[in-house]
Amino acid sequence: MRLLFATSNQHKLMEVRSIAAPELEIVGLKDIGFEGELPETCDTIEGNSLQKAEYLYAHYHIPCFSEDTGLIIDAIDGEPGVYSARYAGENASFDDNVNKVLNKMKSHPIRTARFKTVITYYTGKDYVQFTGITEGEILQDRKGTQGFGYDPIFKPVGSHKSYAEMSLEEKNAFSHRKKSFDQFANHLRQIAV
Ligand code: IMP
Repeated sequence: MRLLFATSNQHKLMEVRSIAAPELEIVGLKDIGFEGELPETCDTIEGNSLQKAEYLYAHYHIPCFSEDTGLIIDAIDGEPGVYSARYAGENASFDDNVNKVLNKMKSHPIRTARFKTVITYYTGKDYVQFTGITEGEILQDRKGTQGFGYDPIFKPVGSHKSYAEMSLEEKNAFSHRKKSFDQFANHLRQIAV
């Protein structure tokens, strides 16, 4: 089965391909020549996830799935949350966003945080959403060089490593994205029978 994943983020594409069963061929936006930006103007992760899938369906008329992810930090009222991609400004880099979090969290004693991913599978007629959450803590400084985004400052519960110190396989043992994708894959299996 061939599935269109509404993302231009090559890291996300790589992660999802590493999770998906071999019979699922996951195609990203670059593979179909889509160069634009997907809209993300809602104020919830669920809303943004749906918005991306609806937008893509409107352009290509083929079923697709999308995902939206946010890092939710308790000590700063759930920030960056839905603004995770542009926390330090519209064209902020991963580094800029991480610096902003580290500055805001400087010497803050409460470090608890979670990643939340919402996958939307949009068939054109209706949609279904799958949520994956991973609890963890925000480190005092960056650790590791793998992965992307906030990986260097997020350490999941049950690990002594940050996400950025893990191989893809190790990250998948904890990953918010894998938790939501596994539910989605299960749904696909159920509707195929
Ligand atoms: P998006 O809006 O779903 O593309 O993601 C928002 C932002 O969250 C991204 O730009 C990354 O900075 C961050 N992010 C998403 N997933 C991850 C992850 O697995 N690890 C670290 N950061 C992530």
